[in-house]
Amino acid sequence: MTKLLMNEKIAKAQKEIDDKKKYVENGKMRQHYHLMPQCGWMNDPNGLIYFKGQYHVFYQTNPYSGFWDSMHWGHAVSKDLLHWEYLPLALAPSEVYDDFQKGGCFSGSAIEHDGKMYLFYTGTANHGHGNVQTQCLAISEDGIHFEKYTGNPLITVPEGIEPDSFRDPKVWKHEEKYYMVIGGSRNHRGLALIFESEDLYHWNYLNVLSESRGEWGFMWECPDFYPLGDKYVLTFSPMGSGDHTSAYLVGDFDYETGRFDSHVSGEMDWGFDYYAPQSIVTPDGRRLVISWANEWEWMPLFKDWGPTYQEGWCGFFNLIREVKLGNDGTLQFVPIEEMKNIREDGFCQEEMLITEDPKQLKAGDGISFEMKFVFDLKKTDADSIEMKFRCGDGKETCCIFDLKNGELSVDRQNSDGWSTGVSRSVLLVNDKSELDVHIFSDQSSLEIFTDQYRNNHSNNIFAGDQQNQLSISAHGGKAVIRNYESYKL
Ligand code: FRU
Repeated sequence: MTKLLMNEKIAKAQKEIDDKKKYVENGKMRQHYHLMPQCGWMNDPNGLIYFKGQYHVFYQTNPYSGFWDSMHWGHAVSKDLLHWEYLPLALAPSEVYDDFQKGGCFSGSAIEHDGKMYLFYTGTANHGHGNVQTQCLAISEDGIHFEKYTGNPLITVPEGIEPDSFRDPKVWKHEEKYYMVIGGSRNHRGLALIFESEDLYHWNYLNVLSESRGEWGFMWECPDFYPLGDKYVLTFSPMGSGDHTSAYLVGDFDYETGRFDSHVSGEMDWGFDYYAPQSIVTPDGRRLVISWANEWEWMPLFKDWGPTYQEGWCGFFNLIREVKLGNDGTLQFVPIEEMKNIREDGFCQEEMLITEDPKQLKAGDGISFEMKFVFDLKKTDADSIEMKFRCGDGKETCCIFDLKNGELSVDRQNSDGWSTGVSRSVLLVNDKSELDVHIFSDQSSLEIFTDQYRNNHSNNIFAGDQQNQLSISAHGGKAVIRNYESYKL
């Protein structure tokens, strides 16, 4: 029964995708190298796993419109993290615990066990007394077709936790046991809870892994927890903490007590569009993070949920990044090395002098490109350096490296007639001799990495094809760029 109902729901949603995908494919704002839904809405990455020779990525999706609604799990696979093949939807709302009034199969994670794929997700249902969230399981032999476990839900809301704020299980194995971290809220403070299990079916509460004292909002969504070097990293997306989209804590963890002592905190990205990151380990041991290129707190403020809604889709993932532990204990988020494999039409220049007079820069077609260089700070005496991207039709996105005041800002108020806001961060420039810059531009996004990948701004901008010029100028002195390279992507 359980299986039949879900299969019916999947078949119906799948037909919707098949009917609409050709139309959606022609959308002018579709990305060239970022993963997007075939049609309809996409938010968080879910269930990231390398399983039987392929990377599997699932995602929160509503195939019926470019708008959030009752949640399904979309599914795509890749052998190289660059080219993706869509598979049938993996989960659809079908049960009393995940299918009432705009609930659905909310975010979660995947683990391999006995050669099968286990998906843990949050069932959200509303039977007239507000949303209730529980942790549920679905299993697959082939990694394509899933069956919900008849004993669901596995974990119900613990005492003291808000019933509509207990979600997004991340599961992993350590030695002979399984662990799960879940996001939650109590007394209007965000927190992450940790559970343990011997068999993946029976779970015991272990501890509060970490909790906001007010500085990190009222609810933590999509927590993730993993070892990195000799440390542990907790990441989460706090709701209600102003401009923070996704935060990280680095510290020491004790499996006996479930206690996590963190001593470093930071921001995974300072832009407007970086949310709900989840990690995956590659066969060669790299820890990668994939995230949703949007954010709830500013998004619904705008008309029609954004311009891509008109094209029948909404949402994509940010560039995949590798997490590295820096010497000072902070984290670096470095675009995956695989990106080199899609470079075309390279252009290099060893040294460039930048003055007050704006210089046009060469980078692919000015729309879908990668650019990399360093500012030679020993030869630079400018107060600030201004870079303008996606210029044309009287529009532009302006990025200022303010060396005098130590600030990086990305202004998208004049990007496309729709986007708003200036994202800002403090430039650290620990290495006083140079400042590294690495930029990825795609049809509808601009991702800027600097300060050894610790100061990153990911912003969506919905610029048209005629907006394909870029320039650079220095103010209050000159600047020197070294090792400039750019590619069409
Ligand atoms: C984060 C989130 C999750 C939830 C999902 C619902 O973006 O709100 O907490 O599981 O999206 O789609």
